[in-house]
Amino acid sequence: MSTTDSSVSSVRSLEDRAKAITAREIARYAERTKGSQKATERARLVLPLGVPSSFQAYDPHPIVVRSAKDAYMVDVDGNRYIDYDMGFGALFSGHVHPAVRRAVEAQLDNGTLFVTPCESNAEVAEMLGERYGLPMWRFTNSGTEATMDAIRVARGVTGRDKIVKVEGGYHGHHDEVMISMKPPLDQAGPADAPIPVPSTAGVTKAVLGDTIVIPYNDPEALERVLRNGDVACFIVEPVMENIGICLPQPGYLQAVREITQRYGTLLIFDEVKTGITAGWGGATGALGVTPDLVSLAKSIGGGLPLGAFGGKREYMDQITLGRVIHLGTYNGNPLCMAAAKAVLSEVCTPEATNETILRNTTLVDACNDVIDSSGVPAHTIQFGAKGCVTWAPEPIRNYRDYKATNFDLAFAQWIHGINRGILLPPGLDEQWLISIMHTEADALAYADVFADFVHELLA
Ligand SMILES: Cc1ncc(COP(=O)(O)O)c(C=O)c1O
Repeated sequence: MSTTDSSVSSVRSLEDRAKAITAREIARYAERTKGSQKATERARLVLPLGVPSSFQAYDPHPIVVRSAKDAYMVDVDGNRYIDYDMGFGALFSGHVHPAVRRAVEAQLDNGTLFVTPCESNAEVAEMLGERYGLPMWRFTNSGTEATMDAIRVARGVTGRDKIVKVEGGYHGHHDEVMISMKPPLDQAGPADAPIPVPSTAGVTKAVLGDTIVIPYNDPEALERVLRNGDVACFIVEPVMENIGICLPQPGYLQAVREITQRYGTLLIFDEVKTGITAGWGGATGALGVTPDLVSLAKSIGGGLPLGAFGGKREYMDQITLGRVIHLGTYNGNPLCMAAAKAVLSEVCTPEATNETILRNTTLVDACNDVIDSSGVPAHTIQFGAKGCVTWAPEPIRNYRDYKATNFDLAFAQWIHGINRGILLPPGLDEQWLISIMHTEADALAYADVFADFVHELLA
């Protein structure tokens, strides 16, 4: 047998082993989550899929949670989990951090909604401005709104209709970005010039015609689609965090900055996921490339529904001048502002952020030890306080590489973990988040269970 033949057959035998582990663990999961099953059956009668957002649905049923505190969650069956999902990465400050709780409780005494400004609007905008080096901000209620409004500003500035996004990128659930989120490869066309594929029914042909899709980490592809001079913006996560973690290759973001500037196209960084989990100044600060506009949500809200978008004054002036209208009853409501103020000033300080990222490095190192000593076809990726194990020998550069990773092994690891109190997001697109409230022991528990899984896989 050649070396290639023997490595193919050893991957096959790992896959067979993974499928056997998965079958056993699914039965175990069903046994220990009977309360979640019952709650989901009830919910399915009144909510499609039994969940409030389709991302929360998975087979055979999601765990239904009763309570959460610090870095832990307890489900309705009484199972306790260390939470590494942390609200899809929103809970960098942990579940109900005492400082967030104090701030929210104090605000409850003074009202939850004014629909006229409160002083903390400017305070929070100043804090974001300091972190991101961008002067003007507006608040939204979600990441979806933050990317939708940033795109509208870009269209207002340029007077152009088209936008560019990368294949496999998720930017929320509004029509123009619900395109090629996770397209089936048999519909997606060539890797270097992907065909835009709607990710949901309800996206009109007109909208589809205005969204151009390119591969991540490919500056030439970006330049090709900008040459006509009809593109308002390139919206991109500086580090892709919806296909595990996919890092920009050296020089990619600098090239993106230069090319967009040359063609008069605005660069929008979608930092809804990276945000302040990447470092005190977000991915923007950590990677040293400043976009024209940035969209935030998740980690700035401390668990409350808050988004924001900000940018250079000349672009945000579209709103000042009344050319672009930005609205929302709950925008900048005092309750979310109180939480954000606590997160940005008291909880996620530069020191606490750096310490948490270091704790995450300890976890990543421990996982690397397991991979190196076992030789399994996997690698780890870290960005700030987030990390993941990707089941492929080499780092991925884009969505097509991600699709070639081993989902059988990834699923087996996920279901094995959940039955042992290691809660990772459903779907294999996500990553873990070590929050300010995870202790080192909490962080390392993931590596211990991962080691058990690898041991079983190779047994
Ligand atoms: C990169 C990115 N942008 C935007 C969004 C949308 O945010 P929200 O779910 O708050 O609407 C998400 C959500 O996961 C995201 O991952």
